[in-house]
Amino acid sequence: MTIMPAFTIEIVGPDSRVFLCSANQTLLDGALQSGVAVPYGCGVGKCATCKVRVVDGQFWRLETPVNKRVKRHDIVFACCTWPLTDLVLAYSDLLRWK
Ligand code: FES
Repeated sequence: MTIMPAFTIEIVGPDSRVFLCSANQTLLDGALQSGVAVPYGCGVGKCATCKVRVVDGQFWRLETPVNKRVKRHDIVFACCTWPLTDLVLAYSDLLRWK
């Protein structure tokens, strides 16, 4: 059995939270498994509801036809993004970064 490392994911802003997410979990799955409420819809990279800004840290993201259109590399879809390090995320300032 391979044990995957778990990274600490911090959400900053008015609803700051911290949860653990393993390297083989998407950020969305890690949040939901930890009981952290985050916005999401389709879960497969089509609706953009789970969009979040990565303030700090390294990640890998699966490119989908929809998220490929997002110009900023630090704006990711939580359902299509896996942590490579501890991460800091921000939902509260997304409107500034459209
Ligand atoms: S939940 Fe729809 S794109 Fe992530």
